[in-house]
Amino acid sequence: MQKSLVLLKPDAVERRLIGEVISRFERKGLNIVAMKMLRVTPELSKQHYAEHVAKPFYPNLEEFITSSPIVALAVEGLDVIRVVREMLGATNGLKAAPGTIRGDYSSSRQMNLVHASDSEESAARELALYFQPSEMCEYTPTLVGSFRASDES
Ligand code: PPS
Repeated sequence: MQKSLVLLKPDAVERRLIGEVISRFERKGLNIVAMKMLRVTPELSKQHYAEHVAKPFYPNLEEFITSSPIVALAVEGLDVIRVVREMLGATNGLKAAPGTIRGDYSSSRQMNLVHASDSEESAARELALYFQPSEMCEYTPTLVGSFRASDES
């Protein structure tokens, strides 16, 4: 089992798309094991986007990610880092395939609604920025047998 950090960014909150996006993860059969609404501070933004801080677009990105609350989720599942990234679609909503979250709802590279970890290393780093280990509510859904066979792990 893997975990990924997912952020519903300020545009998702402002556009009332929280439920729509979360329901896609639920319908896929992924486990939401932690969730909170928060306001990203400039300090947290610099930690989260550490690899982008020196890039020309970073000031705009920080202004955006701190502009309204976000919803942070820890999502768990088999190969979940890849699965969630594929559900999101390409970074730029204009290039994301129809049927993906960004392809269906975003027309922007910055306002692309959702962030998700892109590797096991970034998932571990990013989850630790938003959640304490004690906030993870791991559980085995009663309906797990309806989502996959017992030998699929
Ligand atoms: S890069 O430069 O290719 O590594 O960047 P990319 O992986 O495409 O995007 C990383 C995150 O930065 C955001 N981004 C931008 N924000 C504002 N303006 C511009 N031009 C811009 N380009 C990229 C992008 O939405 C990504 O955010 P996350 O939260 O990771 O989806």
